[in-house]
Amino acid sequence: MSSEPSPFDDLKLGHDVVWNELREGVQKPRHAFHWPTLCYLDGFTPVPRTVVLRNLDRSEKRFEMHTDARSRKAAVIPKAKHASLSFYDPRKSLQVTVMGRIEMLDPRKEETELAWAKLTLATKTIYANTIDPGTAMLEPENTTVPVDEMSTEDLTRARKNFRVLHLTADRLEVLSLKGNHRRLLFDYGLAGQRRAAWLAP
Ligand SMILES: Cc1cc2nc3c(=O)[nH]c(=O)nc-3n(C[C@H](O)[C@H](O)[C@H](O)COP(=O)(O)O)c2cc1C
Repeated sequence: MSSEPSPFDDLKLGHDVVWNELREGVQKPRHAFHWPTLCYLDGFTPVPRTVVLRNLDRSEKRFEMHTDARSRKAAVIPKAKHASLSFYDPRKSLQVTVMGRIEMLDPRKEETELAWAKLTLATKTIYANTIDPGTAMLEPENTTVPVDEMSTEDLTRARKNFRVLHLTADRLEVLSLKGNHRRLLFDYGLAGQRRAAWLAP
């Protein structure tokens, strides 16, 4: 334990620090928060999946991820309706967990089009595979279309398979184990009953 002051000794400052880290997670592919674990229920089974944190809207408490319409999660998430994201930065001994409601956006909505427009061609190739993700194979095979071979047809198929996921946080929890251990809870409240508190770590 240390007597060093921690930003997590102050609820407001701690909250700002965490949202700034999350913002950096969007912007910097090398930031540990760029690759959170998304968890949702598939029936009774909690499924953890590594995803890329693509965007963030702090005022709406909204986290954006992308996926393929043909994946299992794209079928399951609209039914599950609730999900969590877990972030862990080992260098900072910092864990952030958000729990909330998740939705898959209508692919015809402008938001999906805007997100698609921002992707590089290399990222778009992920959605151009002709074999559906999760399909059993008799032997290993490369299913990705090489970026310099992407045809207009491949691009059209990729756009059709592309989906945006939005998780809106109801609750955010922080655990900092650097120096003095601190655990903070931010409850964003569904009916405006916002609450912030320290919890015993
Ligand atoms: C570093 C890394 C980043 C990933 N990013 C995403 C992502 O942004 N979206 C996604 O759907 N899957 C992503 N995946 C793959 C998922 O973790 C998962 O294996 C895949 O989507 C299959 O899930 P399914 O059960 O829905 O078919 C990523 C995997 C790794 C290792």
